[in-house]
Amino acid sequence: MFPGQDITDSEHVAFTRHFGEPEIFHQTSLNLRSDQVKEIFLVSNVDGENRVMKPSEPSQKQLSSSRQWHTDSSYRPMPSVGSLLHGIEISRTGGITQFINMYEVYEALPEPLRRQVEGRRARHDFSMLHRITGAPPPTAAEQAAMPAVWHPMVRRHPVSGRKSLYISSIYNDAVEGLDDAAAQGLIEELSQFAAQPRFMYRHLWEPHDVLMWDNRCTVHAVTPHDPEERRVMHRTTIVGSEPVVAA
Ligand code: OGA
Ligand code: MN
Repeated sequence: MFPGQDITDSEHVAFTRHFGEPEIFHQTSLNLRSDQVKEIFLVSNVDGENRVMKPSEPSQKQLSSSRQWHTDSSYRPMPSVGSLLHGIEISRTGGITQFINMYEVYEALPEPLRRQVEGRRARHDFSMLHRITGAPPPTAAEQAAMPAVWHPMVRRHPVSGRKSLYISSIYNDAVEGLDDAAAQGLIEELSQFAAQPRFMYRHLWEPHDVLMWDNRCTVHAVTPHDPEERRVMHRTTIVGSEPVVAA
């Protein structure tokens, strides 16, 4: 966490480049990517005319997925290593960003759950977002750019060498060897187990906090806030440098 960073989007991107290449969001149809600085992803309920958008707006529906546990860009063949989120206009009614330490979750998994994830892969599909939120489906070009990918449910961190649980309740649409209902049930059960206070950090925002996290060993979710209240956060996402490595 870096407090007091009243930075421009260009400075945000330049800082991100110290850690890797910034991702450019492949979806352009919902205006979640900044027109001015294409590496910036807009986590915002304010439109181009500076007006608060209704929760029923397509972009807001899609963003509502971030209230469920996920890790950024896990739907890519080489998922992001980390993200940097700049709180520009922060919420006082909610909008708390919560993180789970997935190393600790993996280590604490009850034996029956551990047996179900060890050596198994789950599928991550960007188009799950529209199915769970009612946001418009990706266009044919967006769909073609991001076909569903399979990643191990237990991954080994390339730097720390530690194993962690790697799942996403917003992108996982299938699990190897399970039918749809069982797959959904397993992801749900794992997410519930993970979401315990003992594994959690809750970030209460102050204006111009910049929060940087590791997408390889954490999941995160934001709490709801009063939709009338403005919330403007800008994110960069660091491109993954290698495929997910199984335990
Ligand atoms: C994100 C995200 C959390 C938030 O930007 O990746 O999930 O606090 N946002 O809005
Ligand atoms: Mn996110």
